[in-house]
Amino acid sequence: MSDETRGAGLVLVGYRGTGKSSLGRLVAERAGAAFLDADAVLERQRGESIRRIFESLGEPIFRDWEHETLAAIVQDQPGCVLATGGGAVLRADNRRLMRAHGLVVWLTADLRTLERRIGGDSSRPALTALGAVGEIATLVRQREPLYREVADRSV
Ligand code: S3P
Repeated sequence: MSDETRGAGLVLVGYRGTGKSSLGRLVAERAGAAFLDADAVLERQRGESIRRIFESLGEPIFRDWEHETLAAIVQDQPGCVLATGGGAVLRADNRRLMRAHGLVVWLTADLRTLERRIGGDSSRPALTALGAVGEIATLVRQREPLYREVADRSV
C-alpha cells in the first residue's frame, strides 16, 4: 500500500494484555486526537459484553461484527488513535483496513507478563480449551506472523 492511500491515524495491535487501550488513551491525549477502543465501540453498539457475545452467538459472529465495527471506525473517524482487539488481525480484510487507517504499531510483552495481566481475568472469553497459560502461548505464537505482517513498528 503506498503512503498516499494510508491515513493519518494510529492503530495499535497486539495480543490481549499488551496495553493497547492504556497506551492508546495516553497517546491520543498527548496528540490531541480522538481515542477509540474497537471492542468498547462494539459492546456499546451491540448492547452486550464480548464475553456474552462469545457465549450466546459464538466467535464467528463476533468476528463478523468486529470487522463491521473496524470498517465503520476507519470510514467515520479518520485520524483517530484506534486500539483493536487481539484477534482482529486474523482477517486479511481487517489488516487492510488497519493499514488504510494509518501507522500500525504492534505492542508486545513477554508471556509471563501476559499471564500475570490476563490469566485471572474472567471477564475475557476463553478462546480455546487450552487453559489460560497454554492459550496465551499458543495464540501468541500463531498470531505473531500476522502482527508482524500488518505492523510498521513494534514496541
Ligand atoms: C480477543 C481479544 C479481545 C476481544 C475478544 C477476542 C482475541 O480484545 O476482542 O475477546 O481473539 O485475542 P483485547 O485484545 O482488547 O483483550
